[in-house]
Amino acid sequence: MSDTPQPKRWYQLLDKKLSRRTMLQSTALVGVASGLKFADAQTAPPGDVNANNGAPTASVGSKASNRPPFKPTQVTTADTMTLPDSYNFQILAPWGEPINERGDTVGFNHDYVGYFPVDLLEGGASNTDAFLTINQEYPNALFVGGNVENATDPKQVEAEMKAVGVSVVRVTKSGDAWQVKMDPRNRRIDATTECELTGPVRGKGVVGGATVVKGTVGNCSGGQTPWGTLLTCEENVDGYSETWGEASDYNAMHQGWITEIDPFDAEARPKKRTAMGRFRHENAAVTLAPDGRVVVYMGDDMRDACVYKFISKGTYNPDDRAANLDLLAQGDLYVADFGSGAWLLLDYDRNEDLKNAVDETGESVVETQAQVLADARTAALAIGGTPVDRPEDIEIHPKTGEVYMALTNNSNHGNYFGQIVKLREDADDWTAESFHWEIFAVGGPQSGFSSPDNMVFDPYGNLWMVTDSGTGEGTIYEFLGNNAMFFFPTEGPDVGKAFRFCTGPNEAEMTGPVWTPDGRTLFVSVQHPGEDSESLDALTSNFAAAEGEKIPRPTLVAISGFPGWGQDA
Ligand code: FEO
Ligand code: CA
Ligand code: CA
Repeated sequence: MSDTPQPKRWYQLLDKKLSRRTMLQSTALVGVASGLKFADAQTAPPGDVNANNGAPTASVGSKASNRPPFKPTQVTTADTMTLPDSYNFQILAPWGEPINERGDTVGFNHDYVGYFPVDLLEGGASNTDAFLTINQEYPNALFVGGNVENATDPKQVEAEMKAVGVSVVRVTKSGDAWQVKMDPRNRRIDATTECELTGPVRGKGVVGGATVVKGTVGNCSGGQTPWGTLLTCEENVDGYSETWGEASDYNAMHQGWITEIDPFDAEARPKKRTAMGRFRHENAAVTLAPDGRVVVYMGDDMRDACVYKFISKGTYNPDDRAANLDLLAQGDLYVADFGSGAWLLLDYDRNEDLKNAVDETGESVVETQAQVLADARTAALAIGGTPVDRPEDIEIHPKTGEVYMALTNNSNHGNYFGQIVKLREDADDWTAESFHWEIFAVGGPQSGFSSPDNMVFDPYGNLWMVTDSGTGEGTIYEFLGNNAMFFFPTEGPDVGKAFRFCTGPNEAEMTGPVWTPDGRTLFVSVQHPGEDSESLDALTSNFAAAEGEKIPRPTLVAISGFPGWGQDA
């Protein structure tokens, strides 16, 4: 027996998996199925709730489609959306567009998009009328406010605080065209909107005793719950104290949570879910365990940070939305240990390791559960959570129940192109305390993609992924061209192979892809086009500029040309 400890560094774990993967692939060549545990659909948990980021999808039954429904496109640096033949795009809800009679307008730097059919709460799944929720991740002073010299100028601060957060926007389709529909329920939630703290940290010292806090910021990716609410994820929340100054009242401890928003009730106060921990929340992949508890997978998007799982205390009741609206207030938070394949409980009273954790000076790392939750990263790393290479989006395979994670890159360890890995819970139970994992796809010139970020499954189980890579001539990312969207079969002969669907405009990343339930329209955010522009006289993109203008605008695009689910490509 060897006493060699399990390697704990992520690059060591990756190396080990990569060599094993090579061996399994060679085994497959001689006719023995590889990765059987992951491929055994017979024992897979049910997962209809998991396609399309949690937005409704039409059922496709057992019909399988592992082929891309498009002819792959070429690498390009064109300042537009470049799509396959017979696909088209339309600019929808760009920054600054009016959304209601009260004078609210769409915010800046679109990220995650939620699709809530207008008839969802009556059991409907309209393909032509919906509330879209658009995360507005961060401001850019050159475009928002325009005062690049004085960040704390009160007018500049006000413009920026009003441009971030979330936009709730009703859209309708007539003929082939989508348009914003003025609706009194359309609203902006921004850095000044009152939000409620819920759960174990509410009113505690770590948040200054607060129960109600000001605003939501850093709204990156997110998730959609089965009861028709948005989970918006507060990611990059540090630094605003400096840029906005004291007068803004900004408090970083009141940010960095997952905030739940009801898109159907314009009066409902957003609720920050402290039980789900505070870190750089990228996303929330929501599913229901067979016993009705809600399970949410989450990533902390920072180099050498962790992957988490939340399990609600209560259970989902399809007949009681009011009760479901409080489900995420209480539950257990776990961090992933990829070395041993264990979920480690982040509960101060029930996990002795938290009580025993000391720093290099012998001081306790944490002393209360409120501290554990308010700085979940520190607590997680102290008890053996594995620091991984920047977890961006996480999504659950609608057929196999496997949990796919985009680990975008980590220059600390020379991991420049990133990987997509997949995790399978033991006994195919999302509430399990142990799991196995494998590498699904590896970024780099050999595969054509780099820096995987947002992902969404179609109902067949194909994975669609958008990149957030550095771009530009002469860089190691030149092979990618502009950031792009890729299609990956997850079964069949091309499993894990990247097919390029579309490419975005200059310096943009695409974010938040989501389909209408019939799969005929794909909404994608185009975030930060032209963000390297040094001045309004030296713009590097004119994408989605208003008529007669040159300034690029973050926007949604509505992409059409898809055959629709259940149709032949
Ligand atoms: Fe806002 Fe990690 O992307
Ligand atoms: Ca992201
Ligand atoms: Ca996603």
